[in-house]
Amino acid sequence: MPADHTTSVDLEPGTVRRAGGWAVGRTPAGEAFAVSRRCRHQLADLSAGTVDADGCLVCPWHQSRFDVGSGRMVAGPRGFFGYHGPTPGYTALVLGYARHLRLAVGRVAHEAGRLVVRR
Ligand code: FES
Repeated sequence: MPADHTTSVDLEPGTVRRAGGWAVGRTPAGEAFAVSRRCRHQLADLSAGTVDADGCLVCPWHQSRFDVGSGRMVAGPRGFFGYHGPTPGYTALVLGYARHLRLAVGRVAHEAGRLVVRR
């Protein structure tokens, strides 16, 4: 993953977008974050996800939720491949292995009108 990427500072709270290998967004409180883009479940692009009311990044495919401060999966997927629905045992299994596969968390700074992300 490249070391530095930038995006404009006009990110609205509660949104996320792609910046190189990062999913860069703002929590509903307006705090900027950057995490690596590939979901730990089936590698969906998290920059196409959403930010929920708690400030977690939600995967666009099966709605796994990630803490953007630690990169930890805090809720497992609801489904797999093309299936979307309850999968309690499978969800717990994925949540278990994902504890060891956190997303990378970038450091975000405001510099010259841009959000700059560094490892
Ligand atoms: S690919 Fe992210 S939850 Fe399935």
